[in-house]
Amino acid sequence: MKNSGLKLKSIDESTIACYERHSNAYDLYQVAVVPHYQEMLDIVSLACLRYLMPNSKIIDLGCGTGNASLTIVRRIPVKIFLIDGSSSMMGIAYEKIRSTSPEALIGSKVANLSRENWVEGLDCGYDAIISTLVLEHLPLEDYKVVLQKCFEILKPGGWLMAVEGYDEEGSDIMQWFNEEMEARRISLDPEISGFVGKLRNDNGVHYYTSKRQKETLWRDIGFDRVNVIWQYLSVALMIGRKSEVG
Ligand SMILES: C[S@@+](CC[C@H](N)C(=O)[O-])C[C@H]1O[C@@H](n2cnc3c(N)ncnc32)[C@H](O)[C@@H]1O
Repeated sequence: MKNSGLKLKSIDESTIACYERHSNAYDLYQVAVVPHYQEMLDIVSLACLRYLMPNSKIIDLGCGTGNASLTIVRRIPVKIFLIDGSSSMMGIAYEKIRSTSPEALIGSKVANLSRENWVEGLDCGYDAIISTLVLEHLPLEDYKVVLQKCFEILKPGGWLMAVEGYDEEGSDIMQWFNEEMEARRISLDPEISGFVGKLRNDNGVHYYTSKRQKETLWRDIGFDRVNVIWQYLSVALMIGRKSEVG
């Protein structure tokens, strides 16, 4: 693997530990409380259908319990490599894909993206890297390094598709999104609502930026066709292609 020249600044295991603790409740939480969660996964899978060939090789970066991968393999036959920092989230993802589309699984790795070695052992032949609700957990310096690594392991013409939460100066979209989550939570059965409330207070650290800031980083690293193709309040899907030349 080529050295990007960029160095990871911080190693924060606390966010991964939160997901490790709550892996069994993760799907319940996402479906019940996160607005348009399945719609978000659906649009990622539609982007795969539009931009990838059948049997493309994909990394699901921060796969969690495998919901993005599952939605994709239901729409298009692809080969998926799972990566996540939490071994219990990964275990659920692995079993979910193995039991529905075993032919789609080409490998898995438990690794912290804030450590340089997450790319070790991966070849450079991926057609796409998809990542949903993960990269916002990385401090900006780590984000830049991960972005560079993603660029390096993609084939020319390969796509990065990342859903992240964004905050925009002078806008209340983040607050509005949080209010939508809270409204969903309090409409649940009181026992589940209380449980989900505790989960919400323990879901790791986030580093939100504006879309423009991230888009500039993507372009600086060499992605072209960078575009936001879906957004619901503060959550957006940005895609970009590793240019075919150079
Ligand atoms: C909100 S969940 C998203 C999971 C899945 N992509 C989805 O859409 O449901 C965030 C995931 O990112 C993982 N994660 C967070 N920070 C990480 C890091 N530094 N390295 C590796 N994985 C990380 C967590 O373990 C968790 O599974």
